[in-house]
Amino acid sequence: MDLSAFQWQLDRPIRMKTAEFQKEDRLTHCIFAAQLTRPLLDKLCFIAEMIRVLSRTKEGSNKLRELLSHKRAMLYFTQPSTRTFLSFMAACQILGITCNDVRDPSVSSEVKKESPMDSIRMFSSYFDLIIMRSNVSKFAECCAYQMNDLAQNSMRSVPIINGGAGSDEHPTQALLDMYTIERTFQFDHKENSPRSRYMEMRRKYSDLTLGPDNKTYAFCGDLGRGRTVRSLATVLGQYKNVTMCFIAPEDETLQLDPDLRDNLIGKGVNVYELDSLDATVNGKPVLEEADCLYMTRIQKEHDTPELAARYQQLDLSHYKLTLDRVSHMKDYAPILHPFPRDSEEAEIPTDIDNDPRAMYFRQARNGMWARAALLLHIADAVDHLNVLYKEFYGVSAEESLQ
Ligand code: CP
Repeated sequence: MDLSAFQWQLDRPIRMKTAEFQKEDRLTHCIFAAQLTRPLLDKLCFIAEMIRVLSRTKEGSNKLRELLSHKRAMLYFTQPSTRTFLSFMAACQILGITCNDVRDPSVSSEVKKESPMDSIRMFSSYFDLIIMRSNVSKFAECCAYQMNDLAQNSMRSVPIINGGAGSDEHPTQALLDMYTIERTFQFDHKENSPRSRYMEMRRKYSDLTLGPDNKTYAFCGDLGRGRTVRSLATVLGQYKNVTMCFIAPEDETLQLDPDLRDNLIGKGVNVYELDSLDATVNGKPVLEEADCLYMTRIQKEHDTPELAARYQQLDLSHYKLTLDRVSHMKDYAPILHPFPRDSEEAEIPTDIDNDPRAMYFRQARNGMWARAALLLHIADAVDHLNVLYKEFYGVSAEESLQ
């Protein structure tokens, strides 16, 4: 795909780009994890919580569906996806947005040599929002520039949401990961009052605080090629007193990107790079130190024959969870995974799924609420949700949820 017309825009520093993708405090396109500032994350997590609570009843669900029932969305997913595609579709359905999709460009007029850029502009003629995943890095970013150019020329332009671009960014995964981390560290399990669970944990772990600050996050697996780790680490780098331990096989293609490492250190993050889940940090096993463990699979779809042969020499057992390894983790430490997991390599075997710390299915469900929150924010309809919540419960969400 030829994106050279956008090269001068692509080559700029990220802060210049993000300024173009928002209007005051509201995102107009969601392309980079760096757009998810801490105040915005707090806001989106709160909106997600309101949507989740309202969705519990039929009446609440019916009211939510009225919020954006005048909108249409195109889901243009030309790279495989289960969770991102379906959770965006479910998020649209929650808010009443009508969806259409193109998942196979061979059934679109791209087989007649229509360019993907022309396809995007056509979608913008029929739909109010384009959610896209492509195997071409920077394609979603270029689509957002195209929409901005159209807007500047007073032509029809719609928001672009990046559902994963090549191997470089997955901002909405970072959003749902943060919503999951936020919920977990508020100890809001439904069988407990949040504070009682927290106080119980505090008796055993005296340093434990509420929220994502003051935590050690361990990431394990294919950290070099996984876009989810890159996006989540970028976002977590904004929180206070954060330590990140990156556990990856000894092959530079699978290890933490040096630019990301320097960026995190520049933000004050304590960064450790380790070669096994059994490694130690400051003399203590990393699994005992971690407040949260983020597992990933080795992304074999990016292998060349040369890389595949090299990886054959690696002992991947150091990057797989076992019941014994989980038994060393803190009682409250969530095990996250963006999924899919690899059913053959089994970096998380299914016998861990019933452990209360295994949060990956709840994490995937949270994607639906977090993405609905983002859609509402981009559509500038959050005020309508606030009114709806107050009408429904008789008190504002601030009074009842905080
Ligand atoms: N986590 C994630 O992006 O999953 P899918 O590839 O199934 O969308």
